[in-house]
Amino acid sequence: MIVAIDGPAGSGKSTVASTLASRLGFHYLDTGAMYRALTWIARRDGTDLADGPALAALAVAHPLSFGLDGHLEMDGEDVTAPIRDAEIDRLVPTVAGHPEVREVMRQRQRALAVAGDSVIEGRDIGTVVAPDAEVKVFLLADESERARRRTQDRPGVPAETLAADLRSRDERDAVNTRPAEDAVLLDTTVLSVDDVVERIAELVERVR
Ligand code: DC
Repeated sequence: MIVAIDGPAGSGKSTVASTLASRLGFHYLDTGAMYRALTWIARRDGTDLADGPALAALAVAHPLSFGLDGHLEMDGEDVTAPIRDAEIDRLVPTVAGHPEVREVMRQRQRALAVAGDSVIEGRDIGTVVAPDAEVKVFLLADESERARRRTQDRPGVPAETLAADLRSRDERDAVNTRPAEDAVLLDTTVLSVDDVVERIAELVERVR
């Protein structure tokens, strides 16, 4: 079974999706991490972020490895922390915006999804990557709450900078971030992680 969890930055996807996956005993796939890791290696290697075909070739040559302990590795380096950097936040929409890059990533995501029951989080999972997912959820939250969550995730970066970055990222990611017609919309603004996980677990139980 596939549980697709999509939504904008700060909507609570990662925490909810990983908590749900461990509760259900499902695989957890963070597709945003794949775009982030590609951005990280492109910067390291000096690849032009405007060059879609070059970035797609880089993605083919350097798949992100998902460790069982939750650690992420690329090209032999532990990138778990560096890919959450505020600078990667700013650059990743450019990389994720190239159709050539999305094609490589989507193929890989589909290949990973057939490995078994999975919770997959991203932006286009319910619409493009796994349109047949048994459960589709699109998470929403007020902009001020999403900005507040970002401040907690990125200590040391001024709140105004993070709020401005979030707005800019929302605009640039918008084209690939939309709910599937059959997705359940869940506003997480005033819900706890446990509440959101509980609601999605109920949706899973209904189709099991
Ligand atoms: O969810 P996130 O912030 O980790 O996503 C990082 C970036 O990757 C963000 O700019 C949106 C993009 N992304 C995407 O375009 N499609 C996905 N399935 C997942 C993430």
